[in-house]
Amino acid sequence: MAAGVDDIAIYIPRLYLDATDFAEARGLDPVKLQKGLGVSQMSIVDSNQDPACLAANACLKIMQKNKLSPEDIGRLYVSTESAFDESKAMNSYVIGMLEQVYGQGAFEHCGGVETKFACVSGSYALYDNTNWIRAGEAEGKAALVVVSDIAKYDMGSSGEMTQGAGAVVMLLNDNPRLLAFDPKVTATSIKDEYDFYRPFGKETPIVHGQYSNLLYMIQVRKALEAYKKKVISSGLIKIEPGETILDHMDYIHMHLPYSNMGKKALAYLVRHEWRQLPRWKRILQEIGMEEPVPKDPRGTIESVLSDEEFMAKDHEFTKLFSKTPEYQEVYESKLASSLIASTMIGNLYTASLYLGFRSSLEFEYQKGINLDGKRVGFGSYGSGSSAMVFSGVIQPEYEQVVKDMNLEVEVGQRRKLTWDEYEKLHENKLRPDQSMVHSKKEFVLVEVNTEIETRGERRYIFNE
Ligand code: COA
Repeated sequence: MAAGVDDIAIYIPRLYLDATDFAEARGLDPVKLQKGLGVSQMSIVDSNQDPACLAANACLKIMQKNKLSPEDIGRLYVSTESAFDESKAMNSYVIGMLEQVYGQGAFEHCGGVETKFACVSGSYALYDNTNWIRAGEAEGKAALVVVSDIAKYDMGSSGEMTQGAGAVVMLLNDNPRLLAFDPKVTATSIKDEYDFYRPFGKETPIVHGQYSNLLYMIQVRKALEAYKKKVISSGLIKIEPGETILDHMDYIHMHLPYSNMGKKALAYLVRHEWRQLPRWKRILQEIGMEEPVPKDPRGTIESVLSDEEFMAKDHEFTKLFSKTPEYQEVYESKLASSLIASTMIGNLYTASLYLGFRSSLEFEYQKGINLDGKRVGFGSYGSGSSAMVFSGVIQPEYEQVVKDMNLEVEVGQRRKLTWDEYEKLHENKLRPDQSMVHSKKEFVLVEVNTEIETRGERRYIFNE
């Protein structure tokens, strides 16, 4: 039985911080953000928004667009790493909000949990719900998987330039118009790590950025190895001599904490794959230098990162490799369109991979490419850490959905924040009733209770 993504919707907060303003305030070269990281704007949540609001707004959009009633939905999963409750799942909040529109008890039949594993949890949720459909448990109903996050880092930290916020929701069913997931090839890797984590009670994460970046690439590469084995043993794809698995993916979407990370991670995977192939000799000739090797090739991530000579040479090699026509062709045709939304919206943690998927569909379609039958590979990574590699095929009916995609319209009119406004929002100095914009037809947070008996209870309304 086919199972996959029938439609996709996004909700992005209406406020943003401009990268140039950020650079000026922090005394940085704006080119570092724009060219070095690929960040132009970062979405910021208003004082009356939290990740549950973002998720509920995305769910409402997809339901209204597809004229779905709660009866059509059998499962609602929320994936986030911005949880504000250690026990109550974010689904309950989302369902509570949706029931303000659809009627009390309208989603009573609808199961689901909140999933957590940093930025990879949305992929696990998609996998579980796809299997729910494949197992025949859905009884004709669809699943909603909503990935929602607020990427907020400490003031003045190096992560602060990679912030963002938003939610992406995917409608899954057994007759998907957009993408059917390839069965029996989803592969994972997992390792106990402290590259990025957020201890209890802390609003912002503790991040070892460069460590995390390298770990991300290593873990995804391991998952890709496992994916390759499954693809071969299941007979899904035949890899001929001289080919790599990546040759069989028309699109490759990577986790995007910032858009250039996708470029770096893809270059890492391609290098790893091409190294074994006859074409590598030609590439090395074009680059004009040998591929550097760390002093201790079997060492730890720390030892590699502290090997300054290797790191500098590897940086140079990667830059030259990324400029070869062969890599440029892979980058332009398989990845570039997925980065456009990230550049204008910023880091969505769990949702960033799926914002990339959404972005690629729109901008590849606009190029006039026939997407029917194209295979899409996903490289998902979550700190802490786990990676997941999986794939799917774009379905013949995709055009029904993709022809109307318009990122600018879907994001809507946004307001640029002044530095002073940004600081107030970042430091949580504003109450929900002091929000910067008054958005209509959206769920907003009204209050968070502070009384001892009811501490933490949240009240939301739907703004007419
Ligand atoms: N002009 C152009 N490019 C510039 C530049 C300038 N003036 N200054 C720096 N750059 C480039 C660097 O060369 C680098 O590019 P490269 O990656 O291709 O080498 C890039 O900008 C970033 O600079 P760098 O000095 O490496 O950044 P940093 O140490 O200040 O931190 C992050 C960057 C991404 C590590 C940091 O922002 C972070 O930790 N973010 C959080 C990431 C995250 O969420 N990870 C979680 C899991 S994936």
